[in-house]
Amino acid sequence: MTGDLFRDTVEPLAEGAVLLREFATAEAPALMAAVTNIAAASPFRHMTMPGGYDMSVAMTNCGDLGWVTDRRGYRYDPVDPDTGRSWPSMPPLFASLATRAADAAQYADFTPDACLINRYEPGARLSLHQDKDERDFEAPIVSISLGLPATFLFGGLRRKDRPRRIRLESGDVVVWGGPSRLVYHGVAPLADGDDPLTGGRRINLTLRKAR
Ligand code: SIN
Ligand code: FE2
Repeated sequence: MTGDLFRDTVEPLAEGAVLLREFATAEAPALMAAVTNIAAASPFRHMTMPGGYDMSVAMTNCGDLGWVTDRRGYRYDPVDPDTGRSWPSMPPLFASLATRAADAAQYADFTPDACLINRYEPGARLSLHQDKDERDFEAPIVSISLGLPATFLFGGLRRKDRPRRIRLESGDVVVWGGPSRLVYHGVAPLADGDDPLTGGRRINLTLRKAR
């Protein structure tokens, strides 16, 4: 495995899942600038769950496909339903960072085609779920955290498995795949805090291979 051993640590979470602390710290300002550009074209919005309530996390996407939810259900869509246009293209930095992180987690040749961008204001949360709207589960999920720290809930393959609570800081990257690809995960309500990079929020990028 290559990488800066003094900056990066590979922390196993479960079989096939690792936490790469500070893996994206150096790139955080550039990632945030790219998110601002993406949101200028495809703004953050609170999507509606099939059951009818609006998510507390605001979302947008970049890449060939974007994850969306509405009254009809969850899906990947090449078109942003709010703008009627394609999602903004994926910045090369997103893809290269995701490929490097996947590599550090022993997943070779990860090439994401979709990036869901989550924005958490204090109080926003994401309930336990599996990422299973992708065509197959061969590729891992790469998750990059920016801004305010969060408590990531990392469970098991059954909804009732009690999740571990993992503190994620700005620059931390989590990769899960293989035997952990379908683990239940979520985010506890975000605590208040100051963060100059994100204006007192948390931004999370999840890179996927949807097709
Ligand atoms: C997600 O599951 O899509 C996001 C996870 C996170 O915000 O850390
Ligand atoms: Fe998820």
